[in-house]
Amino acid sequence: MKNTTSLVTSLCAGILMIVLAAATASAGTITELVSDCEHCHDKDGASKEAGIPIIGGFSAQYIINSFQAYQDEARPCKEVKYISGPDKGETSDMCKAVKNLTEGEISQLADHFASRPFVRASQPFDAALAEKGRNVHALQCNKCHEDSGSSPDDDAGILAGQWMQYMEEQYADYAAGKRDMPKKMKVKMDKLSEDDTRALVHYYGSFQGPGQD
Ligand code: HEC
Ligand code: HEC
Repeated sequence: MKNTTSLVTSLCAGILMIVLAAATASAGTITELVSDCEHCHDKDGASKEAGIPIIGGFSAQYIINSFQAYQDEARPCKEVKYISGPDKGETSDMCKAVKNLTEGEISQLADHFASRPFVRASQPFDAALAEKGRNVHALQCNKCHEDSGSSPDDDAGILAGQWMQYMEEQYADYAAGKRDMPKKMKVKMDKLSEDDTRALVHYYGSFQGPGQD
């Protein structure tokens, strides 16, 4: 009887250790994954590189959708250099970053970056173009990108305060059909002249301080 009890006790202890080890291992992995992201997107996803988007403060759903799009190759993976960390200076891209992630890891990463603030970029913009862009946005885009494109709640990214270079690249990808977009957004985008899209980029770039809208 005594032996059985001690067997059960050590079995339980063994199982507990395995469970604890598994919990620690996954916590460790998430921290490692987050730092890999931050070696490109910077601390809390507040990127300081004009070609790498700010991702902190996006909705978790939008981040999950983006990962899906990269995994399905529904949007191109631009190659960039790691800005910090052990691979600093080496080239990689989003396809590689998301390739081996499990659903659980994706949802933890999404929650992590969604809980961080969206820190708007400081960048030069043309005030007259921004003013023109304001009108285009109000007419064509605000319905889905509410509050001047500053609300994470519409699961469509955050446009106000995003890096202008990144935005220009996205418009080029959309126009060339390299990145999928919602059908109703395409209807609006197709109406825009090149001047309109340029104006929109300056409009979104004009959002710099917190609370401006
Ligand atoms: C090698 C650098 C690099 C690494 C590592 C990296 N990213 Fe990215 N990420 C980019 C670049 C560049 C883009 C823009 C690509 C494009 O044009 O579609 C991007 C795009 C994104 C987007 C879409 C942004 C938007 O506005 O649609 C999300 C979300 C994102 N990354 C999250 C992450 C997360 C989370 C990780 C860690 C698992 C990560 N990234 C790792 C460079 C990187
Ligand atoms: C019918 C709703 C709808 C309309 C109208 C719309 N969008 Fe979008 N937009 C979306 C959704 C949804 C996404 C996210 C798609 C995805 O997950 O890839 C998006 C994504 C984007 C992105 C990518 C954001 C990023 O971080 O990479 C840009 C840029 C954008 N929209 C600009 C515009 C502009 C400019 C207009 C007006 C001309 C517009 N959209 C009109 C729904 C819309």
